[in-house]
Amino acid sequence: MKKIIVVGSSNTDMVIKSEKLASPGETVLGGEFYMAAGGKGANQAVAAARLGGNVYFAAKVGDDLFGKQAIENYKNDNINTDFVFIDKQNSSGIALIMVDKNAENCISVAGGANNNLLPEDLEEVINIINKDDIVLMQMEVPIKTIEFVAQEASKRGALIVLNPAPAAKISKSIIEKLFLITPNKNEAELLTGISIKNDDDIKSALLKLREMGAEKPVMTLGSKGSAYLSNDILEFVASRKVEAVDTVGAGDVFNGALCVAISENMDFKKAINFASCAASISVTRKGAQSSIPQRKEVDMII
Ligand code: RIB
Repeated sequence: MKKIIVVGSSNTDMVIKSEKLASPGETVLGGEFYMAAGGKGANQAVAAARLGGNVYFAAKVGDDLFGKQAIENYKNDNINTDFVFIDKQNSSGIALIMVDKNAENCISVAGGANNNLLPEDLEEVINIINKDDIVLMQMEVPIKTIEFVAQEASKRGALIVLNPAPAAKISKSIIEKLFLITPNKNEAELLTGISIKNDDDIKSALLKLREMGAEKPVMTLGSKGSAYLSNDILEFVASRKVEAVDTVGAGDVFNGALCVAISENMDFKKAINFASCAASISVTRKGAQSSIPQRKEVDMII
């Protein structure tokens, strides 16, 4: 069975859900608090595992309660944690999240140990990557680590998937090694320099990403679904209409699910629809990892 090797962040999310997001200098009263397991890398690893993938997670957590709890959680989700390292100097990653009544959010991350996941930690991870395995990364660990893994994984013939979130500039030398890149609209604008206002702009941005070297660019468009290119034709996959309560981690579920579908050689449009259905379930529940569905829940609505 092909492996899905996720290299990325592990956080604990401290969430306050209230009427509105606080503006700078403002205090908003009347919120509900919950703590949930999060981190873009971890969310994507958990999504891939719950949806049936053979998942290995490479990450760094602090030598603290949050880190220990996170590793326990990954094991309970049948994720291989041989490469979840413990950092004695830095605390585990923490995200402070506000969610408003429309399920919109804003997030501030103290990366802690995530910022210390370095290329030298990952030599042994590289050794387990085989041809056609999938390597999935995001942007919450150092860029030099992403560069190193992309380079080594491409030498070994793996399919490299990058979810370029949170938004940051990425060198062409990384982009040209990618099988899949999955920006949202803002991330696509930053990467391509194209301001996206309509479908023609979406197509131009996807074509530009392909020109930059990513084999299959897919743009996620929130409640509007996702867009991709099929032989230069712009195609959309609509998302299911649901009552959203918390969209934190929805993009991560999409990415983890998409990797599972690819590891199962699903037709590309079906793969995007599978990922979109998984994400649509997650937004109807609170929390990042706590909202991720099991495979049978997705199969029932597909
Ligand atoms: O994508 C959502 C995630 O971003 C949250 O779980 C939070 O930890 C931040 O990393």
